[in-house]
Amino acid sequence: MQTRVTELFGCKYPIQCGGMLWIAKPELAAAISNTGAVGNLTSGNYNSGEEFTTAVDKTFELTKNPFIVNITTMPSIRLSVELLQEFFKICCEKKVTAIEIAGAPVDTFLGPQYIPMAKEAGVKVIHKVGTVKHAMHAQKVGYDAVTVAGFEEGGFPHKDNVSTLLLVPRVVEEVDIPVLAAGGMADGKSMAAAMALGADGVMMATRFLATQESGVHPNIYKVLLEKKEYDTSLNLQTLLGDFGLQVRALRNGIMRKVEEVEVAGGDLADLLPLISGQRAKKVWEEGNVEEAMLTIGQSVGRINDIPTVDELVERMVVEAKEAMQKTLAKF
Ligand SMILES: Cc1cc2nc3c(=O)[nH]c(=O)nc-3n(C[C@H](O)[C@H](O)[C@H](O)COP(=O)(O)O)c2cc1C
Repeated sequence: MQTRVTELFGCKYPIQCGGMLWIAKPELAAAISNTGAVGNLTSGNYNSGEEFTTAVDKTFELTKNPFIVNITTMPSIRLSVELLQEFFKICCEKKVTAIEIAGAPVDTFLGPQYIPMAKEAGVKVIHKVGTVKHAMHAQKVGYDAVTVAGFEEGGFPHKDNVSTLLLVPRVVEEVDIPVLAAGGMADGKSMAAAMALGADGVMMATRFLATQESGVHPNIYKVLLEKKEYDTSLNLQTLLGDFGLQVRALRNGIMRKVEEVEVAGGDLADLLPLISGQRAKKVWEEGNVEEAMLTIGQSVGRINDIPTVDELVERMVVEAKEAMQKTLAKF
């Protein structure tokens, strides 16, 4: 396949894995990149520049193909702005293919010197956005591409609640840089639809979570197979609304508690013990699925198996072509 995204990343397929805290580590990133899609190494998994450097080196050892690094630019107790700046610099020194920024734009959160630093190093910078306005800002300050995430996405969708079906063509109308569609992408049919809307490629995370190489606990795989498109909820508007964000997670015991606390007017101190990343880390590994905020998208409703990443990517490309041919035959 050839699109502006395959040209930008130098990859075989315009399919990218999104950032996944505690999941997107060197093994999964490299396994995805080895299929011809683009794996993601999520920098938030690491507590220091040294730990992150080791992970980048390991990913380079495991794949010769392009991979990208997610840097989530949101206020965090564990990850200081200085540490995120260090992660960015390491990406430039090590010359990873691209940096995926999610949250506040690099120029305001890390500093105006960072995008020029990446350009100098030949590292691409993409921004995950949930509004047309943010996509236009990304283009203006020099990002190489945007990932447009509708509110179906797992993780931190924008509080505007606009779906991928609407947001992707709106952004495509307004910017000239390549666009990846995210949120609800699960197979070749979604990929064909996204490309018909004008996207140059797709980004998925929940679907990559449901692969053998993600290495999560068997109970998580069971949940991914059983839960439907209506089994996630949007929460944390009280905490994240000022940043324009909210969270989409599996509707489980913890998220029901979170909702109660929010309705009762609870604050960060009340919510933090429920939503902490350390809780989620434990659950991905140990499988007590009611016990943590598990950022899973509505695309969970379209997951019916746990393939290898290779099976998943190959099948997607065949399905996307078939979907387009079948659709064209109707005209
Ligand atoms: C398990 C999991 C963890 C995630 N962690 C992060 C993260 O650390 N940073 C981030 O920017 N997005 C994170 N996301 C959001 C994804 O990168 C992506 O935007 C979203 O999941 C795409 O929608 P989909 O789940 O329908 O594919 C996470 C998603 C999942 C499923």
